[in-house]
Amino acid sequence: MEMKIVLDLIEREQIPECEPERQYYFMDIAQRYVKQLAAQKGSPLTFHVTTFGCQMNARDSEKLIGILEHIGYVRTDTEEADFSVYNTCTVRENANNKVYGRLGGLNNAKKKNPFMMIGLCGCMMQEPSVLEKLQESYRFVNLIFGTHNIYKFAELIVTAMENSFLAQPSKKGSRMTIDIWEDTDKIVEDLPVERKYFFKSGVNIMFGCNNFCSYCIVPYVRGRERSREPQEIIREIERLVADGVVEIMLLGQNVNSYGKNLKEPMTFAQLLTEIEKIEGLRRIRFMTSHPKDLSDELIEVMKNSKKVCRHLHLPLQSGSSRILNIMNRRYDKEHYLALVDKLRAAVPDIALTTDIIVGFPGETEEDFLETMDVVRRVRYDSAFTFLYSKRTGTPAASMEDQVPEHVAKERFDRLLKEVQKIGAEKAGSLTGQTLPVLVEEVNEQDATLVTGRLDNNSVVHLEGTADMIGTIQNVELMSCKGFYYIGKAVD
Ligand code: 5AD
Ligand code: SF4
Repeated sequence: MEMKIVLDLIEREQIPECEPERQYYFMDIAQRYVKQLAAQKGSPLTFHVTTFGCQMNARDSEKLIGILEHIGYVRTDTEEADFSVYNTCTVRENANNKVYGRLGGLNNAKKKNPFMMIGLCGCMMQEPSVLEKLQESYRFVNLIFGTHNIYKFAELIVTAMENSFLAQPSKKGSRMTIDIWEDTDKIVEDLPVERKYFFKSGVNIMFGCNNFCSYCIVPYVRGRERSREPQEIIREIERLVADGVVEIMLLGQNVNSYGKNLKEPMTFAQLLTEIEKIEGLRRIRFMTSHPKDLSDELIEVMKNSKKVCRHLHLPLQSGSSRILNIMNRRYDKEHYLALVDKLRAAVPDIALTTDIIVGFPGETEEDFLETMDVVRRVRYDSAFTFLYSKRTGTPAASMEDQVPEHVAKERFDRLLKEVQKIGAEKAGSLTGQTLPVLVEEVNEQDATLVTGRLDNNSVVHLEGTADMIGTIQNVELMSCKGFYYIGKAVD
């Protein structure tokens, strides 16, 4: 489609230096640009954000969406929108490949839509080799930014729009707007943020990671650990609760080391105790806990709390103390098993889930059997199992004796089978009890049913209607099918 887009430059006056004021200033300019473009298009501009990876990324996407909606973009279900953003993950190599694979499709859509902009952000963009590749072979991307400057999204959109629709193309083709920071100690509060569900929300309590597990790229792409001020966290949760939220998920790479770098240091257990006091809040979840930092104080708070859910995600990674040491995990098999015993003694019925990596460099059959042993002893409710993926720049990538793929795959299959077998045996153990269920959605297959979760995160289907969404119902668990319960609401 041949169409010349005209963008009238909006001159800047007195750009505020402080945040978030500066971003609201740019949101205002972006809003006026979006209006100009929509008038030429003859309909509102649409956007789509595709999220890869973890809960942290999901929450970041909600921040992007909050800003996009604020400046007048309208959400659409298809990736082929006027502004299509990929919020990327790079924890394993296949996450990167997925993004490259799908960018071609976006480029085809862009050729047909002169209003279209493509944005890339998130962890993968923090890798220098990725940026090089994009600059070389993916010139059609309009905006690239990383994990540290998401709060600047409005300002970046304004620059990207001016570069895309106003500036003369550079020699290499259209101009890419690129802004990637190596690290930051900045946390900007009070920007718009959208929520996927009206009754539950993620809440960041910290950013970054200082642990440098030897296989993991996260500390390199998410930067050093920094905690949000407790008052800011409490204020955000209070606002969410006033807005109808009953369940929150506190997010951090390692929530157990929360608060260490604050002016007035505070532990995660102390933070939980403060959050517990918020009236109207019914459920508190958190993710992720590093076993080396899981304190007795936290176990005590979990034991006594009425709101902290009886579910803990406690990544094991390996059951072999030798491998754990090379992974730089700073705990061993015995410590991990002792923690599990303590947790179960304090919080009976606690659901335990985990992450396990198979095929870490140097892993022998014996090491692997240690992992199987922990899995059999702990009996996880469920586990995420991963094939080790070599991440350039991490210490493990240059270790000798990388495990051949077929060996790792064979172990992976054995582990997965065991994990699934135990999960199936454990499913249904609460049948017969009456327990609170937070209703989350109308069942996709059967509209006479609604689907919700127990506080231990198990899924329950029960007869019900859409008006029950967001409420907590007492449900008698009558039977268990596969991995979910069938229940009946009782008064
Ligand atoms: N290869 C495979 N899995 C990994 N994880 C992190 N880095 C790697 C890697 N290089 C897994 C860990 C972590 C989860 C989020 O991803 O198990 O807990
Ligand atoms: Fe990666 Fe380890 Fe940090 Fe988790 S704790 S993000 S596995 S370095």
